[in-house]
Amino acid sequence: MDFSGVLDALPAQDELQTQARPYFNHSVELKKVCTARERAEVLEKAGLNVFFFPSEMVTGCDLLSDSGVTTMTAQQWAALHLGDEAYGSNRGYFTLMENIQKTFGEEFFSEPGTSGPNAFIFHQGRACEDALFSLLSGVGTDLIIPSNGHFDTTQANIELNHIRALNLFSPELKDPASRSHFKGNMDVSRLEELCSEKGSRIPVVYLTVTNNTGGGQPVSMDNIKGVAAVCERYGIPLFFDACRFAENAWFIKRYEGSYENKSIPTIIREMFSYVDGFTISFKKDGLVNMGGGLFLKQGGRFLKRHAALADALLDYQIVKEGHPTYGGMSGRDIMALAVGLQLVTRQEYLSYRIRQVQKFGRSLHDMGIPVLLPIGGHAVYLDVNAFFEGTAMKPDDFGGIALTAVLLAAYGHRACELGYFAFGSYNSERGTHIFPEVNFVRFAVPRLRYEDRDLQNTAEAVKMLYDHRERIPGVEVIYGRELPLRHFKARFAFK
Ligand SMILES: Cc1ncc(COP(=O)(O)O)c(C=O)c1O
Repeated sequence: MDFSGVLDALPAQDELQTQARPYFNHSVELKKVCTARERAEVLEKAGLNVFFFPSEMVTGCDLLSDSGVTTMTAQQWAALHLGDEAYGSNRGYFTLMENIQKTFGEEFFSEPGTSGPNAFIFHQGRACEDALFSLLSGVGTDLIIPSNGHFDTTQANIELNHIRALNLFSPELKDPASRSHFKGNMDVSRLEELCSEKGSRIPVVYLTVTNNTGGGQPVSMDNIKGVAAVCERYGIPLFFDACRFAENAWFIKRYEGSYENKSIPTIIREMFSYVDGFTISFKKDGLVNMGGGLFLKQGGRFLKRHAALADALLDYQIVKEGHPTYGGMSGRDIMALAVGLQLVTRQEYLSYRIRQVQKFGRSLHDMGIPVLLPIGGHAVYLDVNAFFEGTAMKPDDFGGIALTAVLLAAYGHRACELGYFAFGSYNSERGTHIFPEVNFVRFAVPRLRYEDRDLQNTAEAVKMLYDHRERIPGVEVIYGRELPLRHFKARFAFK
């Protein structure tokens, strides 16, 4: 008698209704205890701006961001000890080079001396953006950088360098009836039109994978190919904002028919075969707390068209960040990143990670809370306008800000307004608000940090607020309404 008869007679493990996590707790930290009144008092002093609220008092889930808040694995903590803090050519630099080459392609990280510089390590994503856009601003006038959805810092870094940042969102993103799995796509026909009219003013086209500003929705391989084909026709380089490249690849495998039998690493290599370079914040799919990079494909259109920029980037890096072999990162962080890159492409990790986010989003949806469907890879986006429909909440009451403040004070969960306040602006001359197309509160789920029951508690708290939504007052902006990136700095008071 062996096991086969028994195993064949039993349902397979993945047919059980619940699945165990593919990891266990390595160490934990007990949370502080505090009351709703204590939180409210502190939040009021912080001008209702949740960014200024002490994280130690977040007794529920801290879903302000998924960036830099990953719980690292035991292997990563061990790798930190192997960090080499040498000023030049630390050991981790070579390990990182190897893992970048394996993950994205050899052509994105050339060994120094074998060709011109093409790989630049920065301390985080926005530092790469400033480097790239400040140098690109010198290549022409009236420049435009189109994207499927620029992230807020990306947009700010483009605009601070006097370039126009243009979002060509997929029409499906704004269609609540659409059940497309790839609402993060770029509108290819609008891109084609733009390139045919103004191609000479476009130094690079950007695709953000997954599309954080566009609801955390993924981009299909078909769309990547379509965008790449347009860029090729007009001779324009194509870049990824690659922060969540592995999560995007998981969606392609899961929902884009012909990729179901391909491995995640194979899909990633194909995605990156279509681009000429990428910027990345490793604080997301690098599974680390700090790090970023800018990588240019050897032989790609970017290096051909803007050849002089590679040396200028090297100078920028040395002046602003550090020697190219460590850039803006410490040797130990480089080691943790090298290990993180190996873990993040594992199928069992990605499946658990994204299914956890989807399950959280579905719970909210099943409770009647209006969330963007389908659920994206790293976050759940609540539709603020639909949430407050039928109440007295007006656009300039900034319901999303009010909702995040009350959720934090009453139930200890922290989320982030990414809508009328974060992406809107104020015209001081006319005294009018300018509202963006989308109005979300984002619940970003940190990697490997929370259990399903924690997120279930957040969902229950949001439902409680939904049931009492007419009791949530609007807010007035008491400081910062005219400032750029105002959501990080502004102060509010309840009306
Ligand atoms: C899509 C995207 N691009 C760029 C960035 C900027 O990265 P960092 O926070 O490391 O500066 C972020 C950060 O959240 C992001 O989500």
